Amino acid sequence: MDTDDVDTVLVAGASGATGLEVLRLLGSRVPTVRGLTRSPGKRRLLRRAGADEVAVDDLLDPTDLAGALDGVDVVVSAVGSGVGEVLGSGPYVDGEGARALLDAAVTAGVEAFVMESAIGVGDDPASPLATAFDLFIGPIQEAKAETEAALRSSPLRHTVLRPGVLTNGPRTDDVTVAEPGAKLYGAVSRADVARLLVAAPVTEGAADATFEVVGRPAFPGRATVLDWQLPGAGRTDSTVEVDVLDDVDEE
Ligand SMILES: NC(=O)c1ccc[n+]([C@@H]2O[C@H](COP(=O)([O-])OP(=O)(O)OC[C@H]3O[C@@H](n4cnc5c(N)ncnc54)[C@H](OP(=O)(O)O)[C@@H]3O)[C@@H](O)[C@H]2O)c1
Repeated sequence: MDTDDVDTVLVAGASGATGLEVLRLLGSRVPTVRGLTRSPGKRRLLRRAGADEVAVDDLLDPTDLAGALDGVDVVVSAVGSGVGEVLGSGPYVDGEGARALLDAAVTAGVEAFVMESAIGVGDDPASPLATAFDLFIGPIQEAKAETEAALRSSPLRHTVLRPGVLTNGPRTDDVTVAEPGAKLYGAVSRADVARLLVAAPVTEGAADATFEVVGRPAFPGRATVLDWQLPGAGRTDSTVEVDVLDDVDEE
């Protein structure tokens, strides 16, 4: 997709720590940003971060994903299981939930789907960090692997990003992005991951690709160098501040 081809983006997991960073970056760059949350009470949070519209639905028990995806060009999925859910036996939003979103995106004719996964997902040679992730959240990693596989089999342009340990640090634009199996380990800020999630649909070389991502330590020798673009190149990069919000949201 060209940088100006993105009109409407659905951000799933919009209220999450990565999702909010995605909203902040996208809000001033594309005409319509729609955030998805299970909680009507989070509408204001999403609108303040940059969402123009809010859709309320539960991916594990969806009621109207066709409505949430109406007119959408790009889906950014930053959903993830909470601590309580990780300790449960599933189903997980990382698996069944994300695949419900993917199926609905295919039906709706969405062009591109970007997924936030995690280092260690899949069968590629693992770093010690990936092994640790598997040890503590194995079922979640397995659920993500199944969603990644479904995405690769889908007709959608897609990008899977597998970050290391997420932090709430600032955006640095200084990250190592590498092919699966590069055995990266380390941490990366959600703001840096958000930039790549937003950039992937309009970046040549990111189509139908999977990348591991870390900020520190750096792995220059293992990096895949891409010229990451952002949608709406002509617009500014500022956070949208909205102090007075109307109550007209979609459900
Ligand atoms: N933590 C790490 O170090 C780490 C490392 C690598 C990868 N990751 C992955 O990176 C992703 C983002 O992590 P994060 O910590 O930034 O996110 P987060 O703050 O945990 O947010 C997760 C989001 O998922 C949404 N969600 C959960 N269940 C849902 C459901 N059934 N239907 C719809 N939405 C649902 C929640 O939305 P509502 O509650 O508003 O519905 C929430 O906004 C996750 O996939 C995570 O596994 C994390």
